[in-house]
Amino acid sequence: MRRMRRRIIQPLLRETELRKTDLIAPIFVDASIDAPLPIASMPGQFRYPVDGVADCCERLWNAGIRAVILFGIPAAKDSAATEAYAAAGVVQQAVRRIKERLAEMVVVTDVCACEYTDHGHCGIVGETADGPDLLNDPSLDLMAKIAVSHAESGADIVAPSCMLDGMVQAIRRALDEAGYQDVLIMSYSSKFASALYGPFRDAADSGFAFGDRTTYQINPGNAREAVMESELDAAEGADILMVKPAGIYLDILAAIKDLGLPVAAYQVSGEYAMIKAAAERGWLNERAVALESLTAIKRAGADLIITYFAEDAARWLDEEQ
Ligand code: PBG
Ligand code: ZN
Repeated sequence: MRRMRRRIIQPLLRETELRKTDLIAPIFVDASIDAPLPIASMPGQFRYPVDGVADCCERLWNAGIRAVILFGIPAAKDSAATEAYAAAGVVQQAVRRIKERLAEMVVVTDVCACEYTDHGHCGIVGETADGPDLLNDPSLDLMAKIAVSHAESGADIVAPSCMLDGMVQAIRRALDEAGYQDVLIMSYSSKFASALYGPFRDAADSGFAFGDRTTYQINPGNAREAVMESELDAAEGADILMVKPAGIYLDILAAIKDLGLPVAAYQVSGEYAMIKAAAERGWLNERAVALESLTAIKRAGADLIITYFAEDAARWLDEEQ
């Protein structure tokens, strides 16, 4: 085996190579600020004002990043998430700004309500047999409206992240009826109820006022259920499946890859924060660990990786050439 690891042979036999076009950079857009605002729990990440989002994308584009995913923080929240589908909503404006500046940048939008509801849950909440909880069918129409409004603004891919039953079908139908047959759906199809979303909830102001997300997101121990979730979304018309979080769910990623559709993996805020925090203490080499984590995610089956390291990783990859 060591013959195959001779230094001059190594590049020939490398099985997994990370590319800049594998990466999708998350961007937080805040309707209430006029200068970039650092996110304390995610060093190196910012909330951007609508006015700053095109500059941010240009910087990413120049680094070689070709896709971004947008999250919005609206100026006002209510129980029905009305700002989430407003024509002049924060994400809708941001998509237009990006497309005006960089028509070729692939713009993905997160389709969910948790940043827009006053209770912080991912859709419409009401009474159930078990007390107040996210209501499934009443939330589907909301997701369809959000997705269509993003498509109207110019989004290339909509990414529903609420884990509702039937969300992909409802969105596909609404997009088609509105004339957006070419807009893709990247479903957060296997999304776990993970404690690794903590920093994101600060970043996007999307924490919940009561309960938790375990009645809609998957229990971390449930692999079979995770595969079934992705199978259902594939049958409903998803174009791209997703596993989230990524790094500690590589077994799930490998299983979802076998379903045949392209698969995205979301290296979430907590995965980023753990590497950043250890690196700040001098306990880990940030660059080496970040690239290793991304390579492992790709090796396990990801075609695309959503990662807060996107911009840095693009530079690191250039330096390795
Ligand atoms: C919203 C959403 C979340 C993330 C992406 N979309 C949070 C959640 O489900 O509570 C998490 C992303 C991250 O942690 O980086 N539904
Ligand atoms: Zn949500």
